[in-house]
Amino acid sequence: MQASLQSADPAVFASVQAEIHRQQDDLELIASENYVSKAVLETLGSPLTNKYAEGLPNRRYYGGCEFVDEVENIARRRARELFMVEGCDIGVNVQPHAGAQANQAVFLTLLDAGDSMLGLDLSHGGHLTHGSPVNSSGKLYTAAHYGVGADGRIDMDQVRAQALATRPKLIITGASAYPRIIDFAAFRSIADEVGAYLMADIAHIAGLVAAGVHPSPFPHCDVVTTTTHKTLRGPRGGMILAKRDLMKSMNSAVFPGTQGGPLMHCIAAKAVAFGEALSPDFKAYCQQILDNAAAMADRLMSRGIALVSDGTENHLMLIDLSRSPAAPDDLTGKHAEAILGEAGITVNKNTVPGEQRSPMVTSGVRIGTPAMTTRNMGVAESVQVADWIADVLTQPADEALRTRIKAEVQGMCRRFPIYPSMG
Ligand SMILES: Cc1ncc(COP(=O)(O)O)c(C=O)c1O
Repeated sequence: MQASLQSADPAVFASVQAEIHRQQDDLELIASENYVSKAVLETLGSPLTNKYAEGLPNRRYYGGCEFVDEVENIARRRARELFMVEGCDIGVNVQPHAGAQANQAVFLTLLDAGDSMLGLDLSHGGHLTHGSPVNSSGKLYTAAHYGVGADGRIDMDQVRAQALATRPKLIITGASAYPRIIDFAAFRSIADEVGAYLMADIAHIAGLVAAGVHPSPFPHCDVVTTTTHKTLRGPRGGMILAKRDLMKSMNSAVFPGTQGGPLMHCIAAKAVAFGEALSPDFKAYCQQILDNAAAMADRLMSRGIALVSDGTENHLMLIDLSRSPAAPDDLTGKHAEAILGEAGITVNKNTVPGEQRSPMVTSGVRIGTPAMTTRNMGVAESVQVADWIADVLTQPADEALRTRIKAEVQGMCRRFPIYPSMG
């Protein structure tokens, strides 16, 4: 019971150590990842993991909940403070285990089996849980999709046409791979025209919204879901924010509708992360994420690497290899991910609008700046990273180049350490 991980389980300890070193020495550019603070990590590893607390604070199905009640109340209070807008009363549920579970609970609340929903197409930047046929959202409900236009931006005329044609009960806005600002007010007017609920899934941009560097989905949306681990820089998890009149049924949809006991160590860690996000430092952090992304996007484009929508207004950009004059025609997203990985740069392949290749191959690469910005890397480093990426993608046959860049990436990463006392 008292043995350390190292002596209790050397195999798992070794993998954990190796992962800490990977995170330290590689450049993390996966747009959905981030590094949590030591305080968040400490809370995640706390004995709160032992506690069952089905129900909500002060209305639990278990005894001994007085202290986990405190942390859940702190998390709810801070979340409301982060996302409240004047004149719009919202409630919060911080129990969803992840973003997918938050979405599932919203659908259970607002839709009956077979009801129709309208969301952004997966290959245009949407998410699996927004009605993909391989996800329960696409199996249980009737899903239609809208896409982006030739300019890479959401085509609001198409959203309206699809909404009028399919009369959805729920319109979903929000994305996994969309580099532009979302016009929540424009979605609201379409939802009103067809009598639909409007949901925003702000999983990616939650931190930017909380910091005020992306417009807020409230008061336009009826319900907002998010993850807590991307730009919001908290533990892995989900959350639902909804207008007050919907909150009671959202709570029941989370428990007992779709989940059992909440993960109280994660909820406590969410409380800590929300506290961090309320600080003025967090606003500066989010502005730096945007500045870094803009600098990286400009440099990539100047090196002949094409980006969907020709740039970015948020934390991510999508390279379109099929349109990149400087990259070889046959370079796929899969191959690009692999060779950037060899150079110590971690990214993910991604479909691009109008994708001709399979989702396992793709013609795109998604790049995000939240994690490198957490390490205090700034615009100069972002331009350097863009140059490394362009060097690798324009000379995919050059293995020696990748070896050289990997050493340079490691050198830079060591100048911006994460978790210095670990590993
Ligand atoms: C827009 C969006 N919604 C939902 C999710 C699902 O979140 P999770 O992986 O925590 O279930 C993601 C994850 O990438 C996402 O990007």
